[in-house]
Amino acid sequence: MPAPDLETIVSLAKRRGFVFPSAEIYGGFANAYDYGPLGVELKRNIREAWWRSMVQERDDVVGLDAALITNPLVWVGSGHVANFTDPLVDCKRCQRRFRADHLEEGAYGEVPRDSNGNPLCPYDGGELTEPRQFNMMFRTQVGPVADEANMAYLPPETAQGIFVNFVNVQQAMRRKLPFGIAQTRVSFRNEITPGRFIFRTLEFEQMEMEYFCMPPRDRDNPTEYLALHRQWVEERLRWYIEVIGIAPERLRLRDHDRDELSHYSAATTDIEYLFPWGWGELEGIAARTDFDLSSHAKLSGQPLTYFDEETGQHVVPWVIEPAAGLTRTLAVVLLDAYSEEPDEKGEKRVVLKFKPRLAPIKVAVLPLSKNDALRPTARRVYDMLRPLWMTQYDETQSIGRRYRRQDEIGTPCCVTIDFQTVGEDGQPGDDCVTIRDRDTQEQVRVPISGLVAALEERVPRC
Ligand code: GAP
Repeated sequence: MPAPDLETIVSLAKRRGFVFPSAEIYGGFANAYDYGPLGVELKRNIREAWWRSMVQERDDVVGLDAALITNPLVWVGSGHVANFTDPLVDCKRCQRRFRADHLEEGAYGEVPRDSNGNPLCPYDGGELTEPRQFNMMFRTQVGPVADEANMAYLPPETAQGIFVNFVNVQQAMRRKLPFGIAQTRVSFRNEITPGRFIFRTLEFEQMEMEYFCMPPRDRDNPTEYLALHRQWVEERLRWYIEVIGIAPERLRLRDHDRDELSHYSAATTDIEYLFPWGWGELEGIAARTDFDLSSHAKLSGQPLTYFDEETGQHVVPWVIEPAAGLTRTLAVVLLDAYSEEPDEKGEKRVVLKFKPRLAPIKVAVLPLSKNDALRPTARRVYDMLRPLWMTQYDETQSIGRRYRRQDEIGTPCCVTIDFQTVGEDGQPGDDCVTIRDRDTQEQVRVPISGLVAALEERVPRC
């Protein structure tokens, strides 16, 4: 079962150190969250799983890490200054502000409507103003003087750093089409719709890849290009199911209608997840054509082309873009891994059933009690495992409570050191420890000398 509601996950995430409301001591800040010790590990593991699938295991994709704050003309060339806008409406009574499309999409639940069916304020039923366009990019200044000449933008997506580096990467790495450039990085958007935890935040991390291919022979009927788009859609869906472990029945594909396509896209398919409030976007796979390279070439006066040796022609590549949200995936992983089931005694236990690769803590070392006789061996085991896996040591409270705590943070293996391990009453110990499996709760005894090999069968080293 997934989490029954969002509040369950928000509360667990805070209690166990995954995600905290930002600046809580000052009353928090809308749409801003901080990632705690377990949250950063989970985020790192999702990012690494993406990088492994998209870069390391492929021979046609390379990585990039472009500057966040860069020449503002990048955002003129990309079309974001002119087009990255959303329709805003204000309540004439309470002055609250909403995104008109979010009111329609159900972000505020069922909204009241006037006699013509137009939405009214979800808080007090007040009349709303006509929508006006609002640019979602944050502005900042470079240097001490806050004038237009020193103005810069915080990036609303990672993609543009890739486009403006297309020729650099292609030439430095001597790449032939098709090939991709991947990047994971923070992005910023001036989001005004509150709530729903880390689903929609002011700053968030993205994992994006631009896959450059030969332009189609027939621009109006790009059959092969659209087939490549479909291949990437299938590959990305496979990643969420097989690598990240999301239940397939809570994932679906949704093709964008013509009127919702972004300003750069010929076709877009979203991978959606069934959130507690309904279906919502997890990743968009866009067929961006040659829009970005052509626009930047036009504005900069620099050719952003590829020399096709076969035809002896310079061509502008077309692009497929799988664009995933890292922090949004983290929310989905928490929701989807949540499970409530009976423990060894038949009492309720909460388990985060992460894929072992994603688990923030891979192994917990738990001496049976705080007894001084157990500690040296337990510390020796802890020191042995720590360089190999994210490992936690815990000797407080009863062993049952400690198992519950590890289940609730999704630790795949607990290693217990008891009196049989170290010996008692003058009898020698067997130097064996118990491995307890998070999902089956089965326990097996293994010699300490074989512990690393036994754990390696259960959890990948990372
Ligand atoms: N370069 C294309 C692009 O940025 P997008 O659909 O706007 O496309 C891609 O964003 C993904 O980034 C989304 O599917 C979502 O997972 C994530 N994302 C977008 N805005 C977000 C926000 N405000 N907070 C958290 N994640 C967000």
